[in-house]
Amino acid sequence: MPLIELSDVGKTYRSMRGASYQALKDFNLQIEPGEFLCLLGTSGCGKTTVLNMVAGFEKHTEGRITVHDRPLSGPAADRGVVFQGDDSLYPWLSALGNIEFGLRMAGIPRKERHERAHYYLELVGLKGQGHKHPAELSGGMKQRIQIARVLANEPEILLMDEPFGALDAQTRSVMQKELLSIWAATRKTVLFITHDIDEAVTLATRIGVMHAGPASKLKATIDVDLTTEQRDRTNDGYVTVYRQVHALLRDEVAIAMKRASS
Ligand SMILES: Nc1ncnc2c1ncn2[C@@H]1O[C@H](COP(=O)(O)OP(=O)(O)OP(=O)(O)O)[C@@H](O)[C@H]1O
Ligand SMILES: [Mg+2]
Repeated sequence: MPLIELSDVGKTYRSMRGASYQALKDFNLQIEPGEFLCLLGTSGCGKTTVLNMVAGFEKHTEGRITVHDRPLSGPAADRGVVFQGDDSLYPWLSALGNIEFGLRMAGIPRKERHERAHYYLELVGLKGQGHKHPAELSGGMKQRIQIARVLANEPEILLMDEPFGALDAQTRSVMQKELLSIWAATRKTVLFITHDIDEAVTLATRIGVMHAGPASKLKATIDVDLTTEQRDRTNDGYVTVYRQVHALLRDEVAIAMKRASS
């Protein structure tokens, strides 16, 4: 049974002035437990909309979304979300305080809280920086604290919207490896949004490519059956998957550009 299921989902945004925009229509996707699904698509096609609906922050206007076969009724602790360009750290708390916040709310005892927060701080490469406040951290460091904060809550499902988009190439590659080892160790179910094909081929067990908007839906999904060793740009299997995704995406980029200019 799929863990997450979107069936014939549609989303129409309505502005206060009465204008409406149909972002998604007949969007279908099933995510099995333990899958690492990367969702790719042109800018504005509706990726964040899909993630926000699964997170429970946006209500779909058509169709059905279920988690564990139950219709969604809003955000919950089983789904941890890393937002696109997130800047939601509490400025009055230290980095460690931010990571610990959710654990404190969940009533986890102080000692365990500290241990977990330190563990995830180290995991995102910020050991020794836990005392700093958000204003004293760089953009990339803040983003890593956000990720540590979500991971520390140990949710069953990770929803990540371009979480490494703002990081430099080196840090990004380190974070991708860390995320893969966390995933390998915990087999969490991950919905990961990116517009970087390399990132998707590096991380995913399956890649979904969306049509250009409006009324976007899934165009195709591709299984990525590559070992860790094969997830290397020089590997033939990697190149094959890259080309498949690239071909799917190329036409959509052309359509999006044409629509934007007409
Ligand atoms: N609150 C809103 N009100 C009206 N329209 C919206 C709203 N949020 C998103 N949209 C529109 O819905 C479409 C999909 O937006 P979304 O943010 O999901 O795209 P995206 O694929 O995540 O893009 P990007 O890659 O640039 O992050 C866009 O055309 C956007 O303008
Ligand atoms: Mg987005």
